[in-house]
Amino acid sequence: MFEIEHPVMLAGMGGVSYHQLVAAVSEAGGIGTFGASTMRDGELAKEISALKTITSKPFGVDLLTALPQHLEQGIRDVVAGGARIFVAGLGVPRDVIDLLHSHNILVGSMCGKVRHAVAAVASGCDFVVAQGTEAGGHTGLVATMALVPQVVDAVSAQVPVVAAGGLFDGRGLAACLALGADGVWIGTRFIATIEARAVNGYKEALVASREDDTVISRSYTGKPCRVVRNEWTSYYEQHPEEIQTFPLQAIASSKAKVNHLGYPDGTQVDESREFYPAGQGAGAVHAILPAGQLVIDIVSQAEQILTQLGNFKKN
Ligand SMILES: Cc1cc2nc3c(=O)[nH]c(=O)nc-3n(C[C@H](O)[C@H](O)[C@H](O)COP(=O)(O)O)c2cc1C
Repeated sequence: MFEIEHPVMLAGMGGVSYHQLVAAVSEAGGIGTFGASTMRDGELAKEISALKTITSKPFGVDLLTALPQHLEQGIRDVVAGGARIFVAGLGVPRDVIDLLHSHNILVGSMCGKVRHAVAAVASGCDFVVAQGTEAGGHTGLVATMALVPQVVDAVSAQVPVVAAGGLFDGRGLAACLALGADGVWIGTRFIATIEARAVNGYKEALVASREDDTVISRSYTGKPCRVVRNEWTSYYEQHPEEIQTFPLQAIASSKAKVNHLGYPDGTQVDESREFYPAGQGAGAVHAILPAGQLVIDIVSQAEQILTQLGNFKKN
């Protein structure tokens, strides 16, 4: 459906999934997706042009936005740039889906609950991403292991289901295929790659993190977001009444100089308080690797496991 070789999708991570990373994943046979939510006007168009100098493989764009004017400009760039897929964290209006379909662009929707997936399919989406609470970034409360098969039961007769949240290697891919998913959407593991865009200390923080070093906190944006636990999140754990609603808290964290998502590589930040969105899979990140190698490793490990399981069944 996406015209790709491997069912491995780079999550459209705001601040992280820019052209070098998107290209590396698409070139390796998966599909890279831009995280356009942190991009300023005109930046997505430039990023797509830069991508096309490196690869002619299919790519996607993820636009998580509550602002209609941002959505409109973003959609224009997605259409003009020739994206294969468009993914939205919030619901996509029916007329926008029709417009994208008229340009042969497939539309996906991020879902943290079964009913989100059912609504996305009813509004015309071509695939859904079932994202469990383990995921980095804004996230819900249902775990990947429980969510994926329930979303599969609800909608897979109509559209493909992609699994997300806490997946970082071929074991996760094989497991999600066993749960009935058609592929995986991976975020955190791809942050600790050479090609990912990241402010100072972000990639290293993931390498240093253990599986319980992340926390769901509203302290950076006002919405529940899984991040590396630090002094900022701990302060607000003690003072939840001081947290403002979205987007006021996002403005407050920017003003306090602890929220630099989307800033260029190498931006100096206070690493003890900075916004480092990350999932529970961070504990499995031990090195900063080339993204294409990760795709190949994930696929070959999954193939090996599935072959072994196939042999097990025959015996
Ligand atoms: C740094 C970061 C930024 C993210 N930004 C977005 C976003 O802009 N839009 C969106 O739909 N999801 C976003 N997500 C969620 C991812 O798309 C994805 O579902 C998640 O990373 C998968 O879980 P994992 O991190 O455990 O692999 C973000 C996640 C991270 C870690």
